[in-house]
Amino acid sequence: MPTSTAHVLTARPDRYIKQLVAHMGHRTSTEISGDGRGVITLSRGRCVLVPLRDGLRMIASAADAEGVAAVQDVVARHLLRFATQEELKVEWTEPVAADAVHIVDPVVDDYVSTHCTPADEVLQELAVRTREATGDASGMQVSHDEGAFLTMLVRMIGARRAVEVGVFTGYSSICIARGLPEDGRLLACDVSEEWTSIARPYWERAGVADRIDLRIGPAVETLRALPDERDLDFAFVDADKIGYPVYYEEIVRRLRPGGLVVLDNVLLGARVVDPACQEEHHVAMRALNDMIAADPRVESVMLPLRDGVTIARRL
Ligand SMILES: C[S@@+](CC[C@H](N)C(=O)[O-])C[C@H]1O[C@@H](n2cnc3c(N)ncnc32)[C@H](O)[C@@H]1O
Repeated sequence: MPTSTAHVLTARPDRYIKQLVAHMGHRTSTEISGDGRGVITLSRGRCVLVPLRDGLRMIASAADAEGVAAVQDVVARHLLRFATQEELKVEWTEPVAADAVHIVDPVVDDYVSTHCTPADEVLQELAVRTREATGDASGMQVSHDEGAFLTMLVRMIGARRAVEVGVFTGYSSICIARGLPEDGRLLACDVSEEWTSIARPYWERAGVADRIDLRIGPAVETLRALPDERDLDFAFVDADKIGYPVYYEEIVRRLRPGGLVVLDNVLLGARVVDPACQEEHHVAMRALNDMIAADPRVESVMLPLRDGVTIARRL
């Protein structure tokens, strides 16, 4: 579903959003939230209105480029009509499909990943070995900055008992295990003997092999076999996306108060924002993201780190 945005410079974004929502609400469905974000739903598509420090951001989306143009036209015409005291400039970007959106601009992404504590030799060599051994699948490995983020989270909460769903060649396992104390334990779940066999020598070299308990088999079975007690400190979910809702449930019920569950790929290459993406994993992830945001058992935050990372902290 193509989307186009416009950033309109003005000192009165809130006033315009209220006017647009109130006026257009006579003929179409509109809503406004407590923080001033407005949504106008038209027959051809919809426009989201976001108040910013220096202006108004408008996000028009529709099933096709013609629909986007129709939404742009209606909203911009009304906006310009309300702007009696200033001359507003509305310049829309070319419509782009969600899967063509960069979650983070590649230049910024490179800068970010080179401005955290550098990966040591073991992690660097594991990344190279994974590319050689698994080809395209190597894209599944967490990036260095995400790995560093996992280590930091595990250390920050003083985690001792951790679970990982989706080991692959063991990069994120090293990052999590390094954040644990010497007597800490990481239960690492995966279905692949082949991929996880690459991990073992690197876990040894990283000095964390004795902290990692690898379980081969469907993660849901491994998780369900855990005692039904709230003694888990940390969990990282990075496996089959359709399984996420079940993994989340099995983990959240076992997290101690203050424990964290971290979920990777929650944006699915920005496809979660596009209602036209209706494959089973898109639908499942969208529903899970909505559910977590409203889940009274946790407080959560979604970060645009790589492919999107949600951190939910058990209350
Ligand atoms: C995205 S990769 C994990 C990448 C890993 N976190 C890393 O940083 O290298 C996903 C992994 O999930 C595993 N997987 C897929 N379905 C699974 C399931 N039902 N149970 C357990 N693991 C599964 C795959 O074998 C694969 O190794």
